[in-house]
Amino acid sequence: MDPITNPFAPGAGTPPPELAGRDELREEIRIALERLRRNLPTKSVLMVGLRGVGKTVLLDRMRDDAEGVGIQTLRIEAPEARSLPALLAPQLRQALLRLSRNAKAKELAQRALRGLAGFAKALKVKYADIEVGFDFEPEPGLADNGDLEHDLQDLLETVGEAAKSAGSALVMFIDELQYVSEDQLAALITALHRCAQRRLPVTLVGAGLPQLRGRMGNAKSYAERLFDFPEIGPLLDSAARIAISKPVEVQGMKIDDNALDRILAETHCYPYFLQEWGKHAWDAADASPISLADVEQASTTAVAALDESFFHVRFDRLTPLEKRYLRAMAELGAGPHRSGDIADQLGREVTNLAPTRGQLISKGMIWSPSHGDTSFTVPLFDEYMRRIIPGDGWKQS
Ligand SMILES: Nc1ncnc2c1ncn2[C@@H]1O[C@H](COP(=O)(O)OP(=O)(O)O)[C@@H](O)[C@H]1O
Ligand SMILES: [Mg+2]
Repeated sequence: MDPITNPFAPGAGTPPPELAGRDELREEIRIALERLRRNLPTKSVLMVGLRGVGKTVLLDRMRDDAEGVGIQTLRIEAPEARSLPALLAPQLRQALLRLSRNAKAKELAQRALRGLAGFAKALKVKYADIEVGFDFEPEPGLADNGDLEHDLQDLLETVGEAAKSAGSALVMFIDELQYVSEDQLAALITALHRCAQRRLPVTLVGAGLPQLRGRMGNAKSYAERLFDFPEIGPLLDSAARIAISKPVEVQGMKIDDNALDRILAETHCYPYFLQEWGKHAWDAADASPISLADVEQASTTAVAALDESFFHVRFDRLTPLEKRYLRAMAELGAGPHRSGDIADQLGREVTNLAPTRGQLISKGMIWSPSHGDTSFTVPLFDEYMRRIIPGDGWKQS
């Protein structure tokens, strides 16, 4: 069918034509944020899940939901290389400038902007990547100790007071939180904890790979109590059907039931894969309805497209030994796997491979669901590894 009207949208962070199966979670966040605005206790929320399950698009949608009801938001994505204060400062400034336009919040928002100036100046020594415009001179003693844990707490408190005076709330939407270092996470947790104790309307809605939960616990042992960690996974069958059929129907087309069944089976209902299969099945079909034969044809091109994009970008960043480690894991199946079993595959000692495993964890390729276990962070990555490195030549080296 016409590729121009193809509704499907595979791609990291690309909004889907139908955000299926996430209404409950959106509603939970809506309630939490509304409670926050009314100064009632709520927990910050960190959504954890593998790559491609739809965390980023959900975070963006939640942000739109919040802005739609007049809540102040900021949105950042933690890259591997930048510090949290450097990412936060300019976004906080924008939010405070918006708040300062509200007559009731003006004074406190300006005080928070002074706090931000002090914060940036004092922390510049340690976090050289902080770049933020100054609207006011710092207020001596406000968020300017040069110690992140203390200053971030001070700063978010003044931001919270400003948001409260406006009858609003400030919600920080932060993606890829697993890349933030543990000391910076610790500072963020302390600051949020303080705001919660003082019933100030500041909170975090974050997303990250599954290791985030453990990293938060390492950073502050009480983090597990302070946050909710909803797991974002593949869609339920019913939602996966809607993710495919609804966009097709919106375009005035149809898809056969057995074709839909096949898409669900091939994709295991992972959102990224659903988009890829939907797109290729649409393109394969000559006319509505999309048939099983069209999906069969699409499976070949969809897998090729995933290999080229979704899987490949991750594979490309690996050293030869990291690739062999992942290939050994893949030999054992989807996982999780014991470190000892992986080492056996390579004929090496566990301790000998520990640095490689550690590198793969910090690159976000694998994670440890429990002590001594290792899993992939990308669904179906084991199948990809067996496709890209076939045979057993990888065993020797
Ligand atoms: N609930 C959903 N229903 C249908 N498609 C979805 C859904 N959530 C995400 N997608 C699609 O899945 C892909 C990956 O989404 P993304 O948010 O980047 O995942 P993650 O951040 O978890 O890696 C995108 O193409 C997006 O359009
Ligand atoms: Mg993402």
